[in-house]
Amino acid sequence: MTKRVKIDQLGGEVGERVTIEGWLYNKRSSGKLHFLELRDGSGICQCVVFKGDVSAEIFAKADHLSQETSLRVSGVVREHAKLKGTFEVGVTELEVLATPMREFPISPKEHGTDFLMDNRHLWLRSKRQHAILRVRAEIIAAVRDYFDGNGFTLVDAPIFTPNACEGTSNLFETDYHGDAAYLTQSGQLYMEAAAAAVGKAYCFGPTFRAEKSKTRRHLAEFWMVEPEVAFMDLEGDMELAEDFLVSVVARVLDKRRKELESIERDTSKLELIKKPFPRITYAQAIETLQKAGHDAKHGDDFGGDEETVISNGFDRPVIVHRYPMDLKAFYFKKDPTDPRLALNMDVLAPEGYGEVIGGGQREDDLATLEAAITHHKLPMEAFEWYLDLRRYGSFPHAGFGLGIERTVAWLCGLPHVRETIPFPRMLNRLHP
Ligand code: 4AD
Ligand code: MG
Repeated sequence: MTKRVKIDQLGGEVGERVTIEGWLYNKRSSGKLHFLELRDGSGICQCVVFKGDVSAEIFAKADHLSQETSLRVSGVVREHAKLKGTFEVGVTELEVLATPMREFPISPKEHGTDFLMDNRHLWLRSKRQHAILRVRAEIIAAVRDYFDGNGFTLVDAPIFTPNACEGTSNLFETDYHGDAAYLTQSGQLYMEAAAAAVGKAYCFGPTFRAEKSKTRRHLAEFWMVEPEVAFMDLEGDMELAEDFLVSVVARVLDKRRKELESIERDTSKLELIKKPFPRITYAQAIETLQKAGHDAKHGDDFGGDEETVISNGFDRPVIVHRYPMDLKAFYFKKDPTDPRLALNMDVLAPEGYGEVIGGGQREDDLATLEAAITHHKLPMEAFEWYLDLRRYGSFPHAGFGLGIERTVAWLCGLPHVRETIPFPRMLNRLHP
């Protein structure tokens, strides 16, 4: 048995006999040669079957392979005659592990989105989806490394929750041994408890919103990373968000440039993501909209279109802070200089990718927080544990949530979030 290697390791094996295992991606033949494009997850390489190098039986077999046949191939590694840095295998042995029972449904030709989404489990094998999966994994690794490397402790938040965090209109309710429980919308409230224990906490996991709207940016299930820091104010929160995002973008450019280029992302736009990010108030954002001809007025919330107009003036993310309290969740601290405003911030990605981060400073005064819970018509009993955080050594604190899928959409340049997560869950999609 020869040495088994992965395709991305072939460069170190020139002149050696190796075995690779994978799936047939593409094939062409010309007389005495079959060119098999094999993919194994680490990469794609050309395997050349020359009539003079193999038995008649293997040569004939190589002529009848269909797309996605799983194969074991052995041969000698060599550098491609014309493409420097590209390696191929001169095949001497070829073993078919499994022949597809039907024609593989996804060919290089154009398919409709619904068809591709229905076949998501197979679509993932395509070059483009493979590249996106790898960028996503890199973003997640960068997120974890950033917080792990900056004094944060990972504290996992529960998925079943007794109370809402982000409003009651988009809760997924489940039957929890006879009681109502909700799939978590955010781990934030638990991170506030965690911040009092470890100072700098973060959670990272799936979160759920029963969004009734079909937009390019909303999923029913998405992954969110949520840092929460004791004794940090809104200013510190904005600085943290900025430093964090810059580090994630730089890491992805460093490690996944090849993938970004393969999906034709204009990486020059990502090179611009440097500190400092511009900061504008909500009031200034409304002015920007009005100047651009939108009939926006103070008190309006921003949808995707508004966010695009606001961010169009900048080549890097823009931080919009101090929204009206009326637009925001119950837990935000009021701006002491104008209690109608929240000490919150949203980070809007450039190029129209919209809000990727939402967060801010939390209300730390017990009576004010109780009044906010009442004002939002939330059940006080469900929040008693959360109010305890104000009863036992209340402390200023702030944090935020970054949505992984919107970040993937931005960094990969994808117009819709459905390709940013392996198996998207949306209003009309629970399959596959
Ligand atoms: O702005 P949101 O709702 O904030 C919170 O949940 C806070 N509790 C976070 C915190 O302060 N710890 O959501 C945060 C981010 C958004 O900016 C967006 O990137 C993403 O989560 N997000 C969604 N992504 C995909 N589909 C959805 N339905 C999303 N809702 C929010
Ligand atoms: Mg938000």
